[in-house]
Amino acid sequence: MAIDISIVVLALLSLSPSIVLSDSLLNGTIYETYPLPPGTKGPVTISFMDDGVGPFTGISNGNIVKLNTLLGTYEYFAHAAPNRNNTQCDGNSDPSLYSVCGRPLGNAFNKSNYLYFCDIYFGLNGVGPSGGQATQLVKSAGGQPVFFCNGVSIDPIDGTVYFTDSSQVFKNTTQQIAANDTTGRLLSYEPLTGDVKVLAEGLAGPAGLDVSSNSSYILISEIVSNQIQKFYLKGPKASTIEPLLTNILIPGDIKRVGLGDEFVVPENPTAYVHYAIKINGSGSILANRSISGPYANVLYVRDMQQKGISFFLGSTFATFIGVVTFVAL
Ligand SMILES: *[C@@H]1O[C@H](CO)[C@@H](O)[C@H](O)[C@H]1NC(C)=O
Ligand SMILES: *[C@@H]1O[C@H](CO)[C@@H](O)[C@H](O)[C@H]1NC(C)=O
Ligand SMILES: *[C@@H]1O[C@H](CO)[C@@H](O)[C@H](O)[C@H]1NC(C)=O
Ligand SMILES: *[C@@H]1O[C@H](CO)[C@@H](O)[C@H](O)[C@H]1NC(C)=O
Ligand SMILES: *[C@@H]1O[C@H](CO)[C@@H](O)[C@H](O)[C@H]1NC(C)=O
Ligand SMILES: *[C@@H]1O[C@H](CO)[C@@H](O)[C@H](O)[C@H]1NC(C)=O
Ligand SMILES: *[C@@H]1O[C@H](CO)[C@@H](O)[C@H](O)[C@H]1NC(C)=O
Ligand SMILES: *[C@@H]1O[C@H](CO)[C@@H](O)[C@H](O)[C@H]1NC(C)=O
Repeated sequence: MAIDISIVVLALLSLSPSIVLSDSLLNGTIYETYPLPPGTKGPVTISFMDDGVGPFTGISNGNIVKLNTLLGTYEYFAHAAPNRNNTQCDGNSDPSLYSVCGRPLGNAFNKSNYLYFCDIYFGLNGVGPSGGQATQLVKSAGGQPVFFCNGVSIDPIDGTVYFTDSSQVFKNTTQQIAANDTTGRLLSYEPLTGDVKVLAEGLAGPAGLDVSSNSSYILISEIVSNQIQKFYLKGPKASTIEPLLTNILIPGDIKRVGLGDEFVVPENPTAYVHYAIKINGSGSILANRSISGPYANVLYVRDMQQKGISFFLGSTFATFIGVVTFVAL
């Protein structure tokens, strides 16, 4: 639930006028960082189990790991690569080994704590609440390989899994942007029947996505076109897609926050400069806050996963998971 802690802060101020808030607190920048296991990087996206256990993230050694925030330690949870070699992979951050070790990206738990996740080399995967070797669920759609499985989100009402295949040509975001690639797709997977559908194609770098609270639409962030698209699941525009908000520069994953239809998305106008943007389902910008602190040295911020009054941040380029608490967002 979105809690506006500025109200709490104002209440504190009126009770005890001697409290002087630091500049950084007023600017909404309280950061914590949790360094990843040695040699690894890139906690691209963050997820929690339905009961709040976690966070979980996929990292450069091919594993989904679980962070213990009290101890600051990580433990293995799951992986997709069928022939992953622990000796070779455990400290890996070399992309040339991703085809052996795997490279997990988007991840989301359903309401029974079953984890669906994308792996760049192994498509859409699923694994139960106790983790381990995942099951490959989808490797092609509409007769084409799922070439760059990237973002995952689960329908809050019927459990359908929506995911993006960012490109039919590239497995690399930098190259995809440089080539102005428009071969991305929005896909769905129906867990009960195994049915896979291509919902939209010709998309310009679809990355993250999330479903509205009553499953009437999906918002999708596009890194090549720098926009947020809206795909309608219900109503008169069902099965159509249209731009909702343009000029969100290199958006990260979009995530619904709170109980209504508000969403957050990181924006990265240039390298090392990041904003947390909050929007609603009609594309109004509700808030825009700087993300800096430990991220002043990180190229791009990719994901913001809300937990209480804080956001766990994901990035392809960070060697840590960061948590930011904004005074108001
Ligand atoms: C807080 O914001 C003010 C006004 O934008 C700025 O001058 C100051 O440098 C910021 N402080 C920090 C710690 O970011
Ligand atoms: C695993 O990797 C290590 C280090 O590269 C190598 O020595 C070993 O032979 C590999 N094991 C298998 C089963 O391929
Ligand atoms: C979560 O996914 C698993 C595996 O597909 C399925 O058995 C379970 O019913 C799903 N739970 C919900 C609440 O959809
Ligand atoms: C993606 O491509 C860029 C530019 O060619 C390169 O610098 C980078 O290392 C590549 N990243 C990965 C993960 O392969
Ligand atoms: C990228 O592609 C879009 C849509 O195909 C086009 O409108 C735009 O001009 C292209 N941009 C560049 C820099 O080629
Ligand atoms: C879903 O909620 C939106 C408001 O967010 C509303 O306009 C729409 O009618 C609802 N759709 C359904 C199918 O309930
Ligand atoms: C967010 O604020 C920054 C700094 O003012 C600005 O450069 C950026 O364009 C804003 N983003 C959006 C989507 O309005
Ligand atoms: C989005 O916010 C704008 C500005 O506050 C408001 O006019 C609009 O009704 C909101 N849309 C939805 C779907 O809540």
